[in-house]
Amino acid sequence: MSAACPKLRFHDYQPELASFRSAVLQGLARDNKWIPPKFFYDQRGSLLFEAILEQPEYYLPKVERQLLQTHAAEMAELIGPGSVLIEPGSGNCEKVRLLLAALSPAAYVPMDISGDFLFTSAHELGTDFPRLPIYATCLDFTHTMNLPGNVPDGRRVLFFPGSSLGNFEPVEAQHFLLRAGRLVGAGGGLLIGMDRKKDKRVLEAAYNDRAGITADFNLNLLARINQQLDGDFDLDAFAHYACYNELLGRIEMHLTSLKLQLVEVAGQSFQFLAGERIHTENSYKYDPAEFVALAQTAGFRNCRFWTDETGQFGIYYLVFPHD
Ligand code: TRP
Repeated sequence: MSAACPKLRFHDYQPELASFRSAVLQGLARDNKWIPPKFFYDQRGSLLFEAILEQPEYYLPKVERQLLQTHAAEMAELIGPGSVLIEPGSGNCEKVRLLLAALSPAAYVPMDISGDFLFTSAHELGTDFPRLPIYATCLDFTHTMNLPGNVPDGRRVLFFPGSSLGNFEPVEAQHFLLRAGRLVGAGGGLLIGMDRKKDKRVLEAAYNDRAGITADFNLNLLARINQQLDGDFDLDAFAHYACYNELLGRIEMHLTSLKLQLVEVAGQSFQFLAGERIHTENSYKYDPAEFVALAQTAGFRNCRFWTDETGQFGIYYLVFPHD
């Protein structure tokens, strides 16, 4: 707590470095090399992601912001006052500000894997909303979303914007939604923003911005491995690659090796063929009917759906029913 933010508390369950090391060593040993996207978010990664949100090609945050702004009053009415608003992957805590203009929750629980970044963002929010109790919780939400013990009672609503659920495999997304249902309980809610399927060119431009910020963000994963896991990746010998896989309805992000090379990480060596890739992220796109069907398999009932004029993006309010 601090004088500027009397109601801000910070809870630290930041994952150990060992979990990063074992995920990277396992992922690089596979035939199809893969590193989970949650490891993008060290301090520099979080800052680069913030810059991605500002890129003109990345339509998603603009459309979502517009929808939140336009419909905040209706969203607040559905959620009701005195709720406990929980946001996994809260990043810079900017989107919730649009809701807070209309909603007065009993508490806000931002959760993020990037500890220092979370602390700074929560502090800025607490300075602007000094009466809002904030329970900033550093954790890996793909493992746990346990609330700190002192969070007040109130209808629990999970706020999950930014199409983050699309970064899970569909079956993992289903598991996440099952956990979300248990967390919010009977009568709880889920306010979630999900990107929709659309023209391949629009999608591919969004993940290949001209300024190269998404490329820097992707390559930063290798810089992080070099720093924290004693790696020797040559960042000039890998290139960012993002494409839309129409069959699977997902954007894929990869890092492509530009030559045959050996790389050392934490004392182990890994061979890369020229053109071989490390798969670093998927971003699944859902048509509204597809997404509602997925949420229903986890017990949620769709209650309200908002979309923009051209149907680029969707925000859903779903409830976890009493029986
Ligand atoms: N959930 C966002 C998305 O899939 C995250 C994202 C946007 C992202 N651009 C990115 C993640 C670039 C990694 C790299 O759209």
